[in-house]
Amino acid sequence: MIDLILRRGKLVSFSTENTVTVTVDIAVKDGKITAISPNFKESAAQEIDLEGKLISPPFVESHIHLDSVLTAGEPRWNESGTLFEGIQIWGDRKREISMEDVKNRALTMLKQQAAQGILFVRTHADVSEPQLIALQALLELRDEVKDWMTVQVVAFPQDGIYSDLQNEMLLEKALQMGADAVGGIPHYELTRESGVRSVQKVFELAEKYNRLIDIHCDEIDDEQSRFLEVVAAEAIRTKMGSRVTASHTTAFGSYNNAYAYKLIGFLQRAQINFIANPLINITLQGRADTYPKRRGVTRVKELWQNGLNVSFGHDCVQDPWYSLGTGSMLDVAHMGVHICHMTGREEVDACYQMVTANGAKTLDIEDNYGVEVGKPASFIVLDANDSYDAIRTRIKPRYVISQGKIIASTIPAATDFSLTGVTPNCSFVEKSVSFSKVL
Ligand code: FE2
Repeated sequence: MIDLILRRGKLVSFSTENTVTVTVDIAVKDGKITAISPNFKESAAQEIDLEGKLISPPFVESHIHLDSVLTAGEPRWNESGTLFEGIQIWGDRKREISMEDVKNRALTMLKQQAAQGILFVRTHADVSEPQLIALQALLELRDEVKDWMTVQVVAFPQDGIYSDLQNEMLLEKALQMGADAVGGIPHYELTRESGVRSVQKVFELAEKYNRLIDIHCDEIDDEQSRFLEVVAAEAIRTKMGSRVTASHTTAFGSYNNAYAYKLIGFLQRAQINFIANPLINITLQGRADTYPKRRGVTRVKELWQNGLNVSFGHDCVQDPWYSLGTGSMLDVAHMGVHICHMTGREEVDACYQMVTANGAKTLDIEDNYGVEVGKPASFIVLDANDSYDAIRTRIKPRYVISQGKIIASTIPAATDFSLTGVTPNCSFVEKSVSFSKVL
């Protein structure tokens, strides 16, 4: 007996040159997709008529710091709005962290993300703290939620690898404890030379422990911050290519065009992934500018046009670096469309892919990702016509299905107008989220 059939859903494929939409039934058994067909004849224990709603692969959060989420204002507000005041505030806040503190906040966030259609999350864990509490907490949580959420943990040396004698040792210990990826922050090392050395160290550790790489790279407006070329050079040398990700790279937005043009060629040879974080970097960057103020994002459009894999992440939700946010990847894509000038029709579709399929490529989880027969039944249903409509309305998913089970459903709000001479009744987005399952 089939467990679940979702009937009359609209499936969009981005896999060809042209976007193709077909109306299908999807059958689910034992957590996997067993059939996708225009008119599936069999019946199931549970059936839902989707009435033409959009079926989409789940959202992928490719960059977030779950250890610092939901701490905005603790112990104080970031009044300057800069990255560096954020690091100072987090330095004070993390003296207070405990396993329980990190796990409670991170789990709250993961539920919030799942309700909004995110089923794959890459989180960074600060490993500059000598007890490695954040890392331990997030590794435990990774295992506890694996039946409904896939979490990757990056060992992230927030204070730099060479700013303190023990940080190098802590980073390696984090990999021995089971972190999925190794990170770095070369632009925050004390000298340019330490920054270069830190990138080389990250690659050395990744090769030694066979891990992915995700480096916070050039997250600054300084056009002289050029560690991306070092990451590209190391990726070319080691042939690690798609196992390497450069996050932020906001300085790339300030490089002169002659250098940027040369760099794009190197990046095409390196074939590394990029993650831009439009919500946070539009607020963090440009703080030292008068006018004109820079937008604080990397060259998303140019990277995409040159065939490089770009995804979007939140980076932060309600923490010392970014006090807003709800965890919605459609909010992220919406901001990306605006500040990256991605308003063309094909460009809006590309931004949708930056919070879905491109993120899956970055996380190296493509074997278990996508709405295809034989893959895990992990997908979402949106009351939207297409990806453009989804980004425009930023609607919450009607259903979130993870590994064959409906884990969250949201009933849209209905707003009634009672205005004389105006046709009443119009409805718009979102309201109550019901979370089934044992979360
Ligand atoms: Fe980050």
